[in-house]
Amino acid sequence: MQIRIDGIHYIYSGGIKALDDVSLTIRPGEKVALVGQNGSGKTTLARHLNGLLRPDAGDVWIGDWQTSEHSPAQMARRVAYVFQNPDEQLFHQQVWGEVAFGPQNLGHSPERVRFQVDQALDLMGLRGASQINPRDLGYSGRKRVSMASAIAMQTPVVVFDEPTAGLDAREQEQLSQVISLLHQQGKTVLVISHDMNFLAENLDRFVLIKKGQIMLDAPAQHFFEQDLLLKTSALTAPQITRLAQTLGHIPPALSVGHFINNRVSGL
Ligand SMILES: Nc1ncnc2c1ncn2[C@@H]1O[C@H](COP(=O)(O)OP(=O)(O)OP(=O)(O)O)[C@@H](O)[C@H]1O
Ligand SMILES: [Mg+2]
Repeated sequence: MQIRIDGIHYIYSGGIKALDDVSLTIRPGEKVALVGQNGSGKTTLARHLNGLLRPDAGDVWIGDWQTSEHSPAQMARRVAYVFQNPDEQLFHQQVWGEVAFGPQNLGHSPERVRFQVDQALDLMGLRGASQINPRDLGYSGRKRVSMASAIAMQTPVVVFDEPTAGLDAREQEQLSQVISLLHQQGKTVLVISHDMNFLAENLDRFVLIKKGQIMLDAPAQHFFEQDLLLKTSALTAPQITRLAQTLGHIPPALSVGHFINNRVSGL
């Protein structure tokens, strides 16, 4: 499903201008990374996609729905948003109930809810934790419950806000597989992160936001060519990309696997 953000502005009640004329179109099925330094406006932008925030000016369209004309509960049919902080998202006493809440609210049959919840728990490695209170899990466990809750909604758009924070290497690999699966299912995936290695391995298009404005929007390979712009946003390309650039590889590899493949095929 297509996301169209058209000239949006957003000012928090304290007077902070968090978004300043942001326009962005994301085509159905795209895998997009949203990057920028702390406080640049990434979360504010993400919260506009499911109607948690509404722009002061401009429009946000998810498919043929304008967020200003739909409640966040309605928007939840189209956009699943995984909160940056899982503790802001989780509220249920039991993992299973937490993950089931969304699909139940969408009015699905109990059989369908069970199927969607079990599948989401499996994908996030949580099958054995279904009866546990999310509060009794560690940070990465709570983070994975929040992701399972979003996946179980089976929405056409999924937004992950800082999903890798606190995840170990195996859990990050699990998340890579989930992103790949969502992509295969034709869903639009947006990932906000400071983890350039993870983003470069898993996302195709990079959007840089700075002080509430989009400064750069490019395919991953070309994005990392913009040294100066990245430096002013405190971003660095993955080490393997910098090595490939130093060796003069065009386009540079974005992951170790990609680097090795290029070597094997003699690029
Ligand atoms: N609830 C709020 N009330 C007032 N100001 C806020 C609020 N949330 C964010 N801001 C401010 O709006 C600006 C954008 O914040 P936002 O959280 O969108 O940035 P971010 O890019 O997600 O940062 P981070 O990488 O730290 O998560 C910042 O100046 C921030 O201090
Ligand atoms: Mg944020």
